[in-house]
Amino acid sequence: MPLVPTGRTVASGPVCAFNVITLEHAEAIVAGAEAAGRPVILQISENAVRFHDRRLAPIAAAARAVAAAATVDVALHLDHVVSRDLWRQAPEHGFGSIMVDASRLPYRENVAATRAAAEFSHARGLWVEAELGTVGGKEGEPPVDPHAPGSRTDPAQAASYVTQTGVDALAVAVGSAHAMTTRSAALDHSLIGRLRAEVAVPLVLHGSSGVPDEELRRAVLGGIVKVNIGTALNVAFTGSVRGTLAARPELVDPRRYLAPAREAMAETVTRFCRLVAGEADPQGSVAGLTLTVTES
Ligand code: G3H
Ligand code: ZN
Repeated sequence: MPLVPTGRTVASGPVCAFNVITLEHAEAIVAGAEAAGRPVILQISENAVRFHDRRLAPIAAAARAVAAAATVDVALHLDHVVSRDLWRQAPEHGFGSIMVDASRLPYRENVAATRAAAEFSHARGLWVEAELGTVGGKEGEPPVDPHAPGSRTDPAQAASYVTQTGVDALAVAVGSAHAMTTRSAALDHSLIGRLRAEVAVPLVLHGSSGVPDEELRRAVLGGIVKVNIGTALNVAFTGSVRGTLAARPELVDPRRYLAPAREAMAETVTRFCRLVAGEADPQGSVAGLTLTVTES
């Protein structure tokens, strides 16, 4: 099945977007989505590109190839892009969308940078997401208290921002934070409701790894349409590798510990996909899985 436009996956109902760091992440995400029978978004962040020696082509090609063999709809998204040089590469590498992250800029500069990225991307058929407010915890940035005054997205400003920038979706700061390894975030559901009422485009939740099952379901029912998940996969991956190597310290072939780690990520993907779709998970909650592998 070929790659599908990101907008199509979002229009089909609430959808999970998972961060791809390695080939094994992409394989696990597609396998997990197939097991759930749900569309999925593979997203590669600027930080992941930096990890791959600042080269987008190899990891993008790997993700595209995995997506092309999928039996469910898969979209490819370039995530949290600050660098203009990077978002300009998105069309040539087969991305259906970008998230331009100008959220650390003052409002007027954020609008100008985002509008420029949206105009460039729309002219090439790409779907564009942007962020207003501060979802803290991004790599390389000082921690942000998601409950601090001023860090949340203001509904009236968000509505105006979407009109001024022309973006297709908006990432909102409603109480989640990036890179949480416990699922303890408390979301502001009243704010999600007000944003849903005032903002004309789909809303995106970042930092969803730290959001408990019930909170995530409520958020989706309240208007969140794209659910971004990264850290939960790394918790599953690293917990599995650590367990395998502790049990079998003689192993040297990476396939022996990467295979179960990939399987652990795929199970996490399946559970998030089912949760976001509102389906019961016969194996229990995502929280149950995550808690068994959380680092001490
Ligand atoms: O854009 C990516 C997500 O916001 C991932 O956040 O790693 O905290 O789940 P997370
Ligand atoms: Zn994010």
